[in-house]
Amino acid sequence: MFYKVAQQFKKPSGLLGRFISNIMSKGTKPAYDILIAEMNIQPGEKIFEIGYGPGVGIREIFKSANPGMYYGLDYSDLMFEKASRMNQKLIAARKVQLMLGDFLTAEISEREFDRVFCSNVVYFWKDLVVLFSKIRTLLKDSGKFLFFMESKEDLDRQRFTDDDVFNKHSIEKAVADLKLAGFSEVRHFYNRGYFVVAVK
Ligand SMILES: C[S@@+](CC[C@H](N)C(=O)[O-])C[C@H]1O[C@@H](n2cnc3c(N)ncnc32)[C@H](O)[C@@H]1O
Repeated sequence: MFYKVAQQFKKPSGLLGRFISNIMSKGTKPAYDILIAEMNIQPGEKIFEIGYGPGVGIREIFKSANPGMYYGLDYSDLMFEKASRMNQKLIAARKVQLMLGDFLTAEISEREFDRVFCSNVVYFWKDLVVLFSKIRTLLKDSGKFLFFMESKEDLDRQRFTDDDVFNKHSIEKAVADLKLAGFSEVRHFYNRGYFVVAVK
């Protein structure tokens, strides 16, 4: 049962996925609020989110900032459907473009992003250096990659974070892997999870 629930956090689908995504929609705003403040998005900037889930981050960004364009990629059909519905006005206004695909294999044609970010997604990646290197290629010089992840200890306390699904990265390993991927400045802080900011 816990394995099945963990799978739904990794790639929500079906009835259980709808249930889990409702939990996500309610629970993720505090982390997004902090990530968005740290992003300090300037008018006209181009931003890219990996794993937008139900689309809460998109809604919150456009409440407080005015990016030129938001691009998002998620590999769950259900999340694509839910995020598209939640943000249909922004999509119609051509401020938001949602894509369906796996970041591990997707060819991202857009480049030169000011910000790339993700919240609660890095657990589903084993080899962070490969992914962080790919993210770095998408950023313009001095662009920032930001992410939120719960700590290994906090994840261990939750029963649904099955080890076969969740890669519980330590903050030390995540920071070391960002540096190996070529990011110059890396800083982080803890506030019910780790917020990490890396500069290209
Ligand atoms: C735990 S949910 C977090 C959703 C959202 N960021 C939030 O905090 O509410 C993880 C999301 O990342 C997506 N995801 C995981 N691995 C992915 C990958 N390799 N490529 C694209 N999307 C991915 C899942 O489909 C899911 O929507």
